[in-house]
Amino acid sequence: MASKMRKTLIAGNWKMHNTAKESVDLASSVKNGVRPGYAGQVMMAPSFTSLHQVAAALKGSDILLAAQDMSWEDKGAFTGAVAPGQIKDAGCTHVLIGHSERRSIFGESDQVINKKLAAALRHGLVPVLCVGETLAERESQKTYRVLETQVSGALAGRKAEELSTLIIAYEPVWAIGTGKNATPDQAQDAHIFIRKLAGRLYSPALADGMRILYGGSVKADNVDEIMAQPDVDGALVGGASLKADGFLRIIHFQEVITK
Ligand code: PGA
Repeated sequence: MASKMRKTLIAGNWKMHNTAKESVDLASSVKNGVRPGYAGQVMMAPSFTSLHQVAAALKGSDILLAAQDMSWEDKGAFTGAVAPGQIKDAGCTHVLIGHSERRSIFGESDQVINKKLAAALRHGLVPVLCVGETLAERESQKTYRVLETQVSGALAGRKAEELSTLIIAYEPVWAIGTGKNATPDQAQDAHIFIRKLAGRLYSPALADGMRILYGGSVKADNVDEIMAQPDVDGALVGGASLKADGFLRIIHFQEVITK
């Protein structure tokens, strides 16, 4: 881990799982299991309904709290939506933006994601922008084009100085929840592409400092080789973040030499 120039981040996306009590139990077990002196960062993204209580349970630890989504509006007549100020009030410092489930199931476009990302930055929240291609797009050699459209669409109108905290998560849709992870080489290729794109859109300095997480069926038994890739700065973990033991093993990944 010390070999990485960028601080690693292992994040759990709990999706639509867990009552508040179950969330607090899981958060507490993870908190108690992170080894003292852990050099990376750990983050969890519970449901909105658990945020306040998980924030209280995480007090005294360095674990970061994220929401899984938020509105781009500050307040008003938007039934069912949750405002940036409300997730901050609940203790969040980070927010997932544009998760593929938001895109595909809830119809979020790059325009909507652009507005959410801008709102996050305006409110001092760190956006974790999720991008990734479907299987059909990969098989028809459109992966890079899709990544470029999603990244540049989300960031349109943003200036480099606004983006110093930005985190991108590369999550190939075909690997999410399928048990089929990208190979370490596929992840590395996509991460390099995204980093170079950020360099072209902004500056090499921004690109070098920007953390890019891999997501899609990260588990205890594949995290080590994925994290060993030089441009993989962390993981966004869904299913395998729902059990403390497994998630703790992922948090304490070992970088292994794969080549
Ligand atoms: P998964 O989900 O680890 O269950 O594949 C990852 C994600 O959707 O962030």
